Amino acid sequence: MIDIHIHVLPGIDDGVKSLDEAVACCRIAYADGSRILIATPHMKEGSYINELEDVRAAARELQERLDAERIGLRILPGSEVYFAPGLVEGIRERRIATLADGLRYLLLELPFQQHPVKLEETIFGLKVAGITPILAHPERIRYFQEDMDRLERMVRLGALSQLTTTSLTGGFGRKVEQLSLEMVRRRLVHFLASDAHDRRNRPPVISAAAGRLARLIGEEEARKTIESNPAAVVSGEPIDTPEPLGSEEAIAGDSMLSRLWNRLTARDRA
Ligand SMILES: [Fe+2]
Repeated sequence: MIDIHIHVLPGIDDGVKSLDEAVACCRIAYADGSRILIATPHMKEGSYINELEDVRAAARELQERLDAERIGLRILPGSEVYFAPGLVEGIRERRIATLADGLRYLLLELPFQQHPVKLEETIFGLKVAGITPILAHPERIRYFQEDMDRLERMVRLGALSQLTTTSLTGGFGRKVEQLSLEMVRRRLVHFLASDAHDRRNRPPVISAAAGRLARLIGEEEARKTIESNPAAVVSGEPIDTPEPLGSEEAIAGDSMLSRLWNRLTARDRA
């Protein structure tokens, strides 16, 4: 598995605090089945300025320590970039780190409460520049929670979407879990990632959520979100995505599929 969203570089954001803690997290990730971690420290004006060179250096340092301890994980540089003007310029000037430093995919963090002006234009501008934005955990963002059609529109514009493992397994509460299920059902999940911040409260564990996803949509489709799509991010290849379902198609109350889905999710919770 490849985790495309993890705060594992020590001391540079609200993630792990020390190199020892980073190594402990990496041991957990490795034991859970991950083999590549794309380290994604926050990049946000006014709070965490983690430019590409800093991220590269921190990733190198962690990689050296993992090699010394013979932990078979690859650490690649990336960042979780907060929505702001000038993203394309920042990437071109090699200040903003794209995922795996591949210049093709950007993990984009949106404001949690207020829908940003020019979100569509920003997504469009990135796509025109050859960069695909991956929206970090839309299930935790209020305006997508209120109206999942908004997320569908972003995906139709060319954005991809990353669901956080803890959301799907219920760790952020029932509401976020339900929204996660709705995203799955509407084919709006392209990546499943840990967004791990530490080893206890938000550990880098993917397998439990991946198991649940596999029970819902099948092993093959679930694997795309933790293996082949992340692998395409690492190699800078394009990703084939399924046609998203509209709310009517997904919610059609009395359809056979809907009943089947309800049974599946109910049984999975039991
Ligand atoms: Fe994050």
